[in-house]
Amino acid sequence: MGLTFRKLHPHFAAEAGAIDLRRVGDRATLDEIRAGMDEYAVLVFRDQPFADDEQLQFATRFDGTLHAKTGASVLGKSRFGNEALTDISNLDEGGGLLKADDRRRVYGLGNRLWHTDASFQDPPGRYSMLSAKVVPPVAADTEFADMRAAYEALDAETRGTLEGLRVHHSIAYSRHVLGFEFSAQELEKLKGAVHPLVRANPRSGRRSLYLASHASHVLDWPVPEGRLLLRELMEHAVLPQFVYRHSWRVGDLVIWDNLATMHRGRRFDDATHRRELRRVTTLDVDTIC
Ligand code: OGA
Ligand code: MN
Repeated sequence: MGLTFRKLHPHFAAEAGAIDLRRVGDRATLDEIRAGMDEYAVLVFRDQPFADDEQLQFATRFDGTLHAKTGASVLGKSRFGNEALTDISNLDEGGGLLKADDRRRVYGLGNRLWHTDASFQDPPGRYSMLSAKVVPPVAADTEFADMRAAYEALDAETRGTLEGLRVHHSIAYSRHVLGFEFSAQELEKLKGAVHPLVRANPRSGRRSLYLASHASHVLDWPVPEGRLLLRELMEHAVLPQFVYRHSWRVGDLVIWDNLATMHRGRRFDDATHRRELRRVTTLDVDTIC
């Protein structure tokens, strides 16, 4: 059907032409979206008035199995009754603003660190689809970094050094940085996962750095050297030339490829403004429906 893409950044990110994703079910159009994801890694779809079940259904049609083992699910039940629907908001079950010291708020602040979704799980997240319901009148943006462009900008020697390295990712590690502690029982459910530091898109073969604030150490190196390497790569990967900043409008659906990008939420006054989005993430498994 000839979906169009308008590029938003020199390296990546594009706005897709008018389409109603609630009604997209044919393989040809879904394949066009996947091809757009392979090329741009972040796609912005405007005016997508998804109900929750429609968002879940679209994600399943598009990419199969949904990720439900979120870090937040060990803190308590989702207010939506479905762990595949991640609550990206500063609201409690009654719709009021979360108190400053509410555990769910402090846990959610971790989204302001550069990360990929569910890299602390195996399989990790592949595509994340974030739908904007309530957007503050002040900037409360999300930034994305192109991890393919970051990889390609490394010199050949550094790229060679990274080959074959394996990284441990843990949500306890990234939350610990913010002073957030999980209980021993919670930690039982959140043991972390190991993933390669360099990953390739299975269709294009294009390689990217697979990093996140969850990345705690390099299995193949002593801990200090590994931490220093991860820190150096994180600094490199989020240089301004690799970053696209998205300003939300109500009705936006943004899809990102967690293999090819990192992202973070930007700071805003969450004690004053309501911000409400819902995320569905698919699992990075081989079977593509
Ligand atoms: C997410 C996320 C950042 C934001 O939805 O996975 O990290 O700006 N969001 O809300
Ligand atoms: Mn995220």
